[in-house]
Amino acid sequence: MTDDQLLHPHEPAASYLARPEEVGRVCLLYSGGLDTSVMLKWIQDQYDAEVVALTINLGQPGEDYDVVREKALRLGAVDARVVDAREEFASEYLVPAIKANANYGLNYPLFTALGRPLLGKIAVEVARETGCDTIAHGCTGKGNDQVRLDGTVATLAPELKVIAPVRDWKMGREEEIAYAREHGIPVKGGTETPPYSIDDNIWGRSSEGKWIEDLTHAPDDDVFQLVTRPEEAPDEAETVTIGFEEGVPVSFNGEQLLDRVGEVGMKHGVGIVDHIEDRIVGLKVRDIYEVPAAAIILPAHAELERLVGTIHQNRFKTGLDQQWGYLVYAGLWWEPLRTDIDAYMNEVNRQVTGTIGVKLYKGMARVVTRESPNAVYDASLASFNESGGLFSQQASPGFIELWSLQSRLAWRLRNEARG
Ligand code: ARG
Repeated sequence: MTDDQLLHPHEPAASYLARPEEVGRVCLLYSGGLDTSVMLKWIQDQYDAEVVALTINLGQPGEDYDVVREKALRLGAVDARVVDAREEFASEYLVPAIKANANYGLNYPLFTALGRPLLGKIAVEVARETGCDTIAHGCTGKGNDQVRLDGTVATLAPELKVIAPVRDWKMGREEEIAYAREHGIPVKGGTETPPYSIDDNIWGRSSEGKWIEDLTHAPDDDVFQLVTRPEEAPDEAETVTIGFEEGVPVSFNGEQLLDRVGEVGMKHGVGIVDHIEDRIVGLKVRDIYEVPAAAIILPAHAELERLVGTIHQNRFKTGLDQQWGYLVYAGLWWEPLRTDIDAYMNEVNRQVTGTIGVKLYKGMARVVTRESPNAVYDASLASFNESGGLFSQQASPGFIELWSLQSRLAWRLRNEARG
């Protein structure tokens, strides 16, 4: 086979990609931003296809869905739908993530990675309902999101095809803006400075691009759109209590949850993450996240879990948590290993009921109180003042003798060998 055959322009690189002649009606995951607006027109032109615009509400703040819908219709969509998926996102995606203490790398609570399989699943449902043959999305060819979306569609709907115009169209930002102007697509602001690339939902917000790509550049203030700068956060600390039932956060100071926890976190400058991430496609990148709710709920959950679990459960679960987070990060939400692990997570979390107090102060969130009917904790046993009862101090030396036996023998052997 020659290079020419390998790279033949009409031969898609993967079985789930659409050949141009297969594209008749496209379900486009539409945010209303520049990329997907240009895409809405571009698909109609390039493929001579109809477009159904689909916008999904995962709790991204400040979105006016009527405006987005109107815009899609004005740009020629044959149908424009808005799906409110906040409930499903919270109960089917965030709850398992909390039970798995889900973080990737240093402190990325996976909000984007958790959202993508749901976007893909809803796109499949809407595509089937509206008679589409193809799903389109705005991911680039350099990120993780394409892996998550393409993978979801290919898994759930082998009959549907995918197009990802940004991977193919070779337009830079300038050209996109020119295309938009030419086709009457409204462009916010000027061409001067490209904005940050943002993705957000109720579990967090990410910023990429601009100075963030310069690793020596400390964060400019304007990147923080949710979280108060810790320097400007209140001088008074505040302690919030989070109640959990079987691993699920159910009360927050007695009130309704995610939004309110997010608000108080933002106020106290909590949940800023600035870290290096290993993308699944091989790139190493820097990401800035604002995760005010997750930065309070995840440590609270993990603490409660440690309190009710045994040493063996706790040591075992840390590894599983990492495995779960990695699968989700890597776009393998539909992989059976993920649901296998979920079964274990659910079982363990049956004990995770109780209340955790978290103190918030100028960017920090620190657990300060714990309470649970299932705590494997006996204050009188742990106390320095008392002895007797279940715990016998006289038994400790015997334990130590046997516990250290192999290590002592090995130490001796090695020292003898060295002379
Ligand atoms: N780096 C994160 C991830 O891979 C966030 C990606 C944000 N996505 C975006 N299209 N801006 O999950």
